Amino acid sequence: MTLFNLEEYLSEMRGRVDTALDEWMTTICADTPKPLAEAMRYSLLGGGKRLRPILALATCEAAGGRISDAMDIACAVEMIHTYSLVHDDLPAMDNDDFRRGRPTCHKAFGEAMAILAGDALLTEAFRVAASGRRTPGRAARVGEALFELGRGAGASGMVGGQVLDLQATGREQKMTLAELDLMHRLKTGELIRAAVRAGARMGGATVDELPRFDGFATALGLAFQIIDDVLDVTGELETIGKSPGSDRAAGKTTFVDLMGIDAARGRAYELMEQGIAGLSPLGKRASILAAVGRYLVERDR
Ligand code: IPE
Ligand code: IPE
Ligand code: MG
Ligand code: MG
Ligand code: MG
Repeated sequence: MTLFNLEEYLSEMRGRVDTALDEWMTTICADTPKPLAEAMRYSLLGGGKRLRPILALATCEAAGGRISDAMDIACAVEMIHTYSLVHDDLPAMDNDDFRRGRPTCHKAFGEAMAILAGDALLTEAFRVAASGRRTPGRAARVGEALFELGRGAGASGMVGGQVLDLQATGREQKMTLAELDLMHRLKTGELIRAAVRAGARMGGATVDELPRFDGFATALGLAFQIIDDVLDVTGELETIGKSPGSDRAAGKTTFVDLMGIDAARGRAYELMEQGIAGLSPLGKRASILAAVGRYLVERDR
């Protein structure tokens, strides 16, 4: 029996996602004004760990589907995520200069083009996600997955969380742990949850299985942003690909402020183990997904 090698799995999946994204961009940008196409390609294809699409693919497999069943959805999730990063970095938001090891989109293409590149990535994501709608027998699953993406990315999901972040930034009093939890669950957790739920839908998860995947994703989503806060303090530009210390400089409350680095990491591990425990009734099928979850919390980039 060959031992499962997580690094190899992640690298293979990243490669497949990158290839699919590149192909989609060729289709999408065929009739797109050149500066817009360049800004979209620059942000989408210039690095990124591809963790959300990999989560969607691994969940689809754990639910009994094939990788190819969820590839369009996985690409759509990464397009939505990339748009959120382009807008998150804008001067009106976090005002950051580096992303994925390179100047941010607005630094390279100007603010107006960065706003529009984000708009286009978000909108085209739904075209990509819907592209399998006519495959025989797939329409209902595609419809469910589209719903998950819209809900996770929207006003009561990621965008709502970004607003909570803005409202708390630079304010006199620190956020409470409960406020911080809610903000993290929305701004980062909801898109991760959508990636997993949409992947589960594409893989044909049953009504009993869906809450298991959901519980895992909810725990992991919060844990992921806790680690992002830790890496803002402990990381280096070369590894994390963005300027460290950006949260403190912007006057943001983070998990590290409220509990310190070790306790913040501990909370993330605890959440992740709880999430993984919830997958155990799915048996061996979910073991790759659990390993990906663990990696997301143990990462250093
Ligand atoms: C960064 O996400 C933004 C957060 C929501 C925490 P990632 O750490 O997944 O960034 P990329 O996609 O690899 O650049
Ligand atoms: C990211 O939160 C949330 C998004 C929806 C993009 P951060 O602002 O902490 O992400 P980074 O640290 O800039 O990647
Ligand atoms: Mg932000
Ligand atoms: Mg930011
Ligand atoms: Mg951050």
